[in-house]
Order: sequence, then C-alpha cells, then structure tokens
Amino acid sequence: PGFDEWVSTHARSSEAPITLGFSQLGSESAWRMANTASIEEAAVESGITLMMKNAEQSQEKQFEVIRSFIEMNVDVIAIAPVVETGWDEILEEAAQAGIPVIIVDRSVDVRDPSLFVTTIGSDFYEEGVKAGKYLLDKVSNRPGPIRVVELQGTVGSTPSIQRGQGFLDTISSRSDITVTYSAFADFTEAKGKAMMQQILKQSPGEPPHVLYAHNDDMALGAIEAIEEAGLAPGTDIIVISVDGTRRALEKLAAGKLNAVVECNPLLGPQVMQATKEIMAGRTLPKRMVPKEDIFTQERAKEELHNRKF
Ligand code: AHR
Repeated sequence: PGFDEWVSTHARSSEAPITLGFSQLGSESAWRMANTASIEEAAVESGITLMMKNAEQSQEKQFEVIRSFIEMNVDVIAIAPVVETGWDEILEEAAQAGIPVIIVDRSVDVRDPSLFVTTIGSDFYEEGVKAGKYLLDKVSNRPGPIRVVELQGTVGSTPSIQRGQGFLDTISSRSDITVTYSAFADFTEAKGKAMMQQILKQSPGEPPHVLYAHNDDMALGAIEAIEEAGLAPGTDIIVISVDGTRRALEKLAAGKLNAVVECNPLLGPQVMQATKEIMAGRTLPKRMVPKEDIFTQERAKEELHNRKF
C-alpha cells in the first residue's frame, strides 16, 4: 500500500524513533475502536512511530500489510489476528527478516511458538467461565429446562472459540441447561439484531430463557430485537455479554442486561512497553493478560460515568 493509506502517528523524539507496524484486524465493535485509539495514543505518548492499517476482517489483507512492514524494515511488528490459524508462513517471513512480532488481543495457533515474542491480551476462556458461573448462580433456584441462545463472533477467532468453550464447560455441571441455538454474528450490532430476530421468529411463544452474546455490540443489537418482539430483555430473557463498553453498561444499569464480563481493550501502553523492551534486548513473558472482572447491574451504575469507550 502507498504511504498515504497508512494511519501514521509520528513520534516527537528527535533521535531516530522506534518504528512499529501494527496490523489491526478491523473496526467491527466499540471495543475494537477503543483498542485502536489506545494503540494510537500510547504510541504518541511513548515516542514510537506507529504505522497502522485496518484489515477489515480479512486475513489476506493482514498478510499484505505485514509483507509491506517487512519491506519497510520496521523495528517491530504487532498483529491483532482476525482468526487463529494460518499464520505459520507469514511469521516465518518476519522471522527470516529478523523482525520481532508481538501478538495483540487474539492468539495465533502456530507450529513454532518462537515465531512470536509474546501475546498481549485477555484470557477469553476465563471470560467464558465467568459468564457460565454468573448464569449458574442466577438460575441456582430455578428448575430446568433452561434454553440458552448463544451469539458467537467471528468464525475461527480466539474469543469466539474460547468464550464458547469456557461457558460450555462451566454450565455442563447442570444437564438441564442447554445451548439450543448458536450462531455467528461477526461481533457486530447489526448481525446480532438480525440473528436474534430470526431466532425469535423461529419459535414464537417459546423464547429462550437466556442469551449469551460473545460481545456487547451483538448483545445491544439482540436487545433491540427482543424489545421489538414485545419481550423485556433482562427480565423475560437473561442477557449476558462480554466487553464492558459504555453503552452496554448503560443497558446493564437500566436492567436490560444482567451481567457483562469485562474484556479490556486498552492494550496500547503494554504494547508500547513491550516494543521498547524488545528493542532494549530484554526477555518478555510469553503471555501477558490484563486483570479483568465482571460487571453486575450495581457495579455498572458506579462505573458508567468513568467509562470512555
Ligand atoms: O478480540 C476481542 C473481541 O473482538 C471483543 O470482545 C469484540 O468486541 C471484538 O470485536
């Protein structure tokens, strides 16, 4: 790509700054926008020259931009991978060029883990476990059967795989709770709404008891569909989602969502720190996970006003 296509943040330092090429996977959600902004701001603050390109959910586009970073001989490459598999070859190319790679947010499943330095991002399996535990607690006095509808994000992406698995493993302690329908809605509000409309139409008069959405945007879309169908989200249907965006916390405080598992998008400072450490020749842990919690309706009321994204 031509240089004018880059979102480029120039460093203020007069000495030759570190250059970081970042392949962002897309702009599908409020979480993602906050993640992009965090990376941009942290680059400016730390005096790192950032070259960033949005891959619009395409792994092929990620390959293209990573190859341009290699050609430009950037100091470090950071990748937020859209899906988990298929990264071996491109990471080999970066390794051959001697450029260290940081994996951000989602994970890569590669034969040789020495092809990247570290992964900075959430424990998505644990997020699924938290969602499952919340549900078990919420329905502890309620007899089954309990029908759960699951809205997954992007096929083959780490958060979808692991949030699904963590949740399933946790609710498996009660055989009367079952996921009766599971669909991919690409982490977007529009698809979350469309999928929920379809689900509610398929079984009129018998709505699910629970909606587990793998992110807030899909939950927000689904909440609209639930309301349009004349049902009360948060009461008629228990709604659980993941992220903790301001709009979701508003719905949570208003009782239209029941719980939101936190997933922290503000990874910029850690990515810049890691970039500097790599350039200074230091060894980093293979995995860096931010501390995260779960938002209840009560906590949402307190947190709402501080929420920036
Ligand atoms: O990979 C993180 C997930 O991707 C976030 O939960 C979601 O909102 C985003 O699109």
